[in-house]
Parts: sequence; C-alpha cells; structure tokens
Amino acid sequence: MKKSVTTNLRNPRSKQPPRPVQIVGTGSYLPARVLTNADLEKMVDTTDEWIITRTGIRERRIASEQECTSDMGAQAALRAMEQAGVGGEQIDLIVCATLTPDMLFPATACLIQQKIGAKRAAAFDMEAACSGFLYGLEIGQQFITSGTYETVLVVGAEKLSTIVDWEDRSTCVLFGDGAGAAILRSRGDSHGILTTCMGADGSQADILLMPAGGARFPASRETVSGRMHYLKMAGKEVFKNAVVAMQTAALQALQKCNLTIDDITCVIPHQANIRILEALAERLELPMERMYVNLDRYGNMSAASVAVALDEAARAGRFQRGDLILMVAFGSGLTWAAAVVQW
Ligand code: UT7
Repeated sequence: MKKSVTTNLRNPRSKQPPRPVQIVGTGSYLPARVLTNADLEKMVDTTDEWIITRTGIRERRIASEQECTSDMGAQAALRAMEQAGVGGEQIDLIVCATLTPDMLFPATACLIQQKIGAKRAAAFDMEAACSGFLYGLEIGQQFITSGTYETVLVVGAEKLSTIVDWEDRSTCVLFGDGAGAAILRSRGDSHGILTTCMGADGSQADILLMPAGGARFPASRETVSGRMHYLKMAGKEVFKNAVVAMQTAALQALQKCNLTIDDITCVIPHQANIRILEALAERLELPMERMYVNLDRYGNMSAASVAVALDEAARAGRFQRGDLILMVAFGSGLTWAAAVVQW
C-alpha cells in the first residue's frame, strides 16, 4: 500500500487549497542522423572501447544543418500536445530550457510558439543547463498553482553539436542533439508533481562553460581563433560534483514528501555518464533496474536529456498511473534539481 505523501504545493498568499499540477502529455524528438563511436574513431584519437567503458555512450544523434533547436523543440511539443489532447491555442505559457538557442535573441520559446500555433501563449527561454527541464517544470508548476495559467508547455531542447569542439576528444564524444517536452495542467485530482527542489553554486561556474559569444567575450577574430565558442569542461571536477549534487537533490526531494527511495518505481536522471549514474544508484541504494538509462543511444543532451528520458520511459510503460517517479539533474552553473511526481 502506498504511504500518504506530503507536498510543497503551498501558496502562502492564497486562501485556496493548493492545485496539484499534472504532466498530462509528454513528447520527444531525436534527429535521424546517428553518430557512432566508430565514426568518432575516424575524427579524433579515441576508441569505441574507451568511450563505452568511461561513459557508457555508444551513439548519439546529430541534427542536420537546417534543423535548429526550435525545430526539434516544436516537434517534441507537438507530440506532447497530441498525447495531452491540447491544441496550440490552449497553451498559456511556453518555457524553453536550452543552452543552445537558435539565436541569442529572440527567445527560442517564441520561435516554438510560432511553429506550434500557440498564438495566445507567453514565451521565454530559461537557462539552467542540464537542470533546465526540471527548473522549467518547477516554473510551470508555480504558474499553475498560483492560478495565473491553466496550461503550460515546458520544452528542453538542444543542438549541442554546434558548440561541441569536434577536435577535443575529451568532450566531443559525450554530447548529442534532441528535444523533449511536457504539457502541464491541473486536472483536479491529487496526483501530479508532489515536490520540486532546485539549487545552484556559481562559485564553480568555470568548470563547465562556453566562454565566448556573450557580453563577456563578444565574438571576435581572437575568440574564434582561441576556440572560445566551444564548450569547455573540467571533466573530473564536474563528475565529482554531479554525483554529490544529484544525491543531495534526490534525498531532499524525497524527504520533502515523506518518501524513501523504496517508494519510487522509476528514477529518471540526467544522462551524462553511466559511471555517474552507477555511483548515484549506489549512494541512493537503488537497484540500477529502477533507473531509466538511454545515454547509450543519445549521449548527454543537456536540457533535453531528462525530458526525452521521461517521455521514453512513460511510453515504454516503465511506470503506471499512481506510481511515484523521481527525476534528478545536474549541470553547468553549477545547477541541480529534482522532482517527485505521482504519475
Ligand atoms: O551534463 C553536465 C554534466 N557533465 C558530466 O557530468 C561529465 C562529467 N565528466 C565525465 O563524464 C568524465 O570526467 C569524462 C568522461 C569527461 C572523462 O572521464 P575520466 O575518467 O574523468 O577521464 P580523464 O579526463 O581523467 O582522462 C583519462 C585519460 C586521459 O589520458 P592520460 O592523461 O591519462 O594519458 C585523457 O587524455 O583518458 C584520456 N581521454 C581519452 N582517451 C580516449 C580523454 N578523452 C578521451 C577519449 N578517448 N575520448
């Protein structure tokens, strides 16, 4: 029997009871082109064996030149809308989590709005790197819980292939392109997002970043010749932080709703490295069978990773209505986040 759970759905200024928010539809989109480890062996000094043993990744998807982050985000959104039975005109707000927007401005969320016909929707981008989709869920939940909006679309979409340095073997083997989306609504039942938690530590901003292209180092001959428009990562430092931050966020979220890991049917983590996930599972005392893993097929898709994994796991029947799931992520910023959902 399921134990009773507590939630953080409290609006201190409202006299109304909290409105639990449900994920009423999910969708994902992966570009057709597959880049295998064998392909990478021809591009940089690496081996299939090194990549599999150090990361667990076998292949990743790469978007075509014409296919932008907003195109992939819109495809994922349309699939989520179809599953939810929600038309474009019913969407009140679009939150797009991405660190690879089509352009610095306008927001990719606005481009998605046009592509899915969500004419009434407010739209903005939100950048919390790999934690972005879970930050987006929290934002969407808050807007619905407060009574401001009825229907929110949260998208996590990335074209990381455009910021990966294809000459740097320590990073180019890790990342892929893709998009995932979720439609949030309050159906009036007690299921839904039970709790969310988010965190950040800007003191370690320099261990995972793209230095140029913003106001600090605008594009110039020097930034281009210095390869400053590519993602830079201190892999070992990021690895250590990822394990600790995801463990802490997961336990905090569980504690907030009076649950233990044994209550959780499926954990959907950010998909960065199989060794990070194994270390996390060990610390949480979670059997790996209850963790959803797709990084072998897609690599790390930053803000799209949890969104795509959620959609795939739900469609594969990895959990049923009423089951409890835990999503947890970590990324540049540093940022981290977790969410417990009763499906
Ligand atoms: O989404 C945000 C979160 N991102 C992450 O969580 C990523 C976290 N970090 C990692 O997943 C790992 O640190 C990496 C997979 C990036 C690297 O694994 P590692 O076990 O930390 O390897 P390392 O960086 O210590 O490198 C070990 C060796 C080095 O050679 P030497 O110095 O020992 O001779 C590297 O040069 O492996 C070498 N190496 C490679 N060899 C073959 C690094 N990349 C490659 C490669 N192929 N692709």
